[in-house]
Amino acid sequence: MRTPVMAGNWKMFKTARQAAETIRSLVEAVKGVQGVEVVICPPFTALSAAVDAAKGSLVAIGAQDCYWEKEGAFTGEVAVPMIADLGCGHCIVGHSERRQFFGETDATVDKKVEAVLAHGLTCIACVGETLQEREASQTFAVLERQVRNGLTRHLSSPRLIIAYEPVWAIGTGKTATPAQAQEAHAFIRQVAAQASSAAAAQAVRILYGGSVKPDNVAQLMAQPDVDGGLVGGASLDAVSFAKIVRFRG
Ligand code: PGA
Repeated sequence: MRTPVMAGNWKMFKTARQAAETIRSLVEAVKGVQGVEVVICPPFTALSAAVDAAKGSLVAIGAQDCYWEKEGAFTGEVAVPMIADLGCGHCIVGHSERRQFFGETDATVDKKVEAVLAHGLTCIACVGETLQEREASQTFAVLERQVRNGLTRHLSSPRLIIAYEPVWAIGTGKTATPAQAQEAHAFIRQVAAQASSAAAAQAVRILYGGSVKPDNVAQLMAQPDVDGGLVGGASLDAVSFAKIVRFRG
């Protein structure tokens, strides 16, 4: 009942030309796929070329971050209406790299998610614990804090997607086991039910992120609360990401 989503986060990789080439290949490679939403999030500078290359296909294009004000004196920032104007339908918010390196907090996540949803885009909001937090048995406390403080007001929106990304699994080749992913996803859904409603918690898609690859995606997707993937490294190559999109085989 929850349509799976496979989203590629390209981080700070690819020029506009490279992005367009990869997306053209991806469009060919996922032709005929049904029952999966496919999203690619290139850097801001490649969004326009990416939208052009994906036109008429099932591949949607999204941004990796945004600012919450709709315009103003905020040097270097990009507003949600500007992202929407390019033809993007999605925006990632609160990625752990933004939290770790660029001062993103639960409070700024809340404001950004609000802005993304208010302008009619789908928001992929990220949560996840660090290795230190997991080793200190704080995983559930961290996830609960991030969901409650950053997402509570938005949980009933059908355009909110949550991504669970354990920081220790991102870019490390160390994927969470399917059981670890399921445990965290079920917990997030339980917190969402308490913070919002049972119906909202049942409806919200929760993606797993952190070293998702063609050879581990099927096991992750077999978990009842895993509704898709947020894929970094393996999304940069059209062939490998297409295999992930075709996780059903
Ligand atoms: P990874 O990145 O797939 O390269 O681990 C995931 C992410 O950061 O979204």
